Amino acid sequence: MTQNILVTGGAGFIGSHTCKALAARGYTPIALDNLSNGHEWAVKWGPLIKGDISDRALLDRIFKEYNPAGVIHFAAFIEVGISVRNPGSFYRNNTCGTLTVLEAMRDHGCERFVFSSTAAVYGMPHEIPLTETHPQWPINPYGWSKFMVERMLEDFSSAHGLRFCALRYFNAAGADPECEIGEAHDPESHLIPLVLRAARHPEKPITVFGTDYDTPDGTCIRDYIHVNDLADAHIRALDYLAGNDSVAINLGTGTGNSVQEIIEAAREVTGAAIEPNLGIRRAGDPPRLVADRALAREKLGWEPHYTGIIETIRHAWQWMNRA
Ligand SMILES: NC(=O)c1ccc[n+]([C@@H]2O[C@H](COP(=O)([O-])OP(=O)(O)OC[C@H]3O[C@@H](n4cnc5c(N)ncnc54)[C@H](O)[C@@H]3O)[C@@H](O)[C@H]2O)c1
Repeated sequence: MTQNILVTGGAGFIGSHTCKALAARGYTPIALDNLSNGHEWAVKWGPLIKGDISDRALLDRIFKEYNPAGVIHFAAFIEVGISVRNPGSFYRNNTCGTLTVLEAMRDHGCERFVFSSTAAVYGMPHEIPLTETHPQWPINPYGWSKFMVERMLEDFSSAHGLRFCALRYFNAAGADPECEIGEAHDPESHLIPLVLRAARHPEKPITVFGTDYDTPDGTCIRDYIHVNDLADAHIRALDYLAGNDSVAINLGTGTGNSVQEIIEAAREVTGAAIEPNLGIRRAGDPPRLVADRALAREKLGWEPHYTGIIETIRHAWQWMNRA
């Protein structure tokens, strides 16, 4: 008999790719999503329950009906800028919403929890690459809303025997190589889809925020990880928790690409000129964010399959140009 896995946010970007990967490995993903930012068309590998993670009565019904062997928890608001303008909505959705899920798990005896954390829990990096022991001091409410969940997870683990894997992702990118699903955020703030959009619409150029950083070409460096590699890591984390204790793990490729390199790679993939506007730095953007991924290898046996940015961008471009 296949095991059910509750996937909150399963209609979103990373959640839908993880549902596909779960189904490929013999699990049945049960997607719970309020469609605030997700898409019904992205749920193809198991049932979609339209509803909110903060609806405790709904969670009770789901746990009774599906008896999930674990929960992979993606549901959250993700836009850092909005979190600065409206922090309450982030603490309510990301932190309080997760608390409701954890309490339901506690009461229904569900013990395995894989959490979408983020590199934003570290705040300004003191050293690169970032290891999991780097001090955590987020610099925006989004990061704090996730940091607080990590704190709750420790306490639920001590008090109730919850086993969790907090996966601190760097920059998710790419799309399903088979082009069944892909990134469709609204608003979109991620660099690669914005650059690709500019390739299609030269009249709407992107702005590069800062060209005078202490990096080889002066633009910020980030660690872009293919969404399918993220999906793979989630299933490994779920399996890991069947016999191991809780852990927080970085998910990144361990190599960085500058904004300038992303634009050049997108030119190569699309054949478009892509002429960005050059702007000034944004407050709070560190020059470099790159993961140390040794712990992911050690604990999960995980290595990124997609290590070249060209292929990741090609998958995103293929998705953007789907028929
Ligand atoms: N995309 C990235 O680069 C990145 C990086 C680090 C961490 N993360 C984290 O990964 C997770 C998934 O990110 P994503 O890019 O797939 O975002 P996404 O917006 O595509 O997916 C989130 C999904 O959660 C749903 N959702 C939000 N609040 C809900 C609620 N209260 N009840 C039910 N469903 C709800 C949305 O409708 C959406 O489908 C998020 O938790 C995000 O913070 C993402």
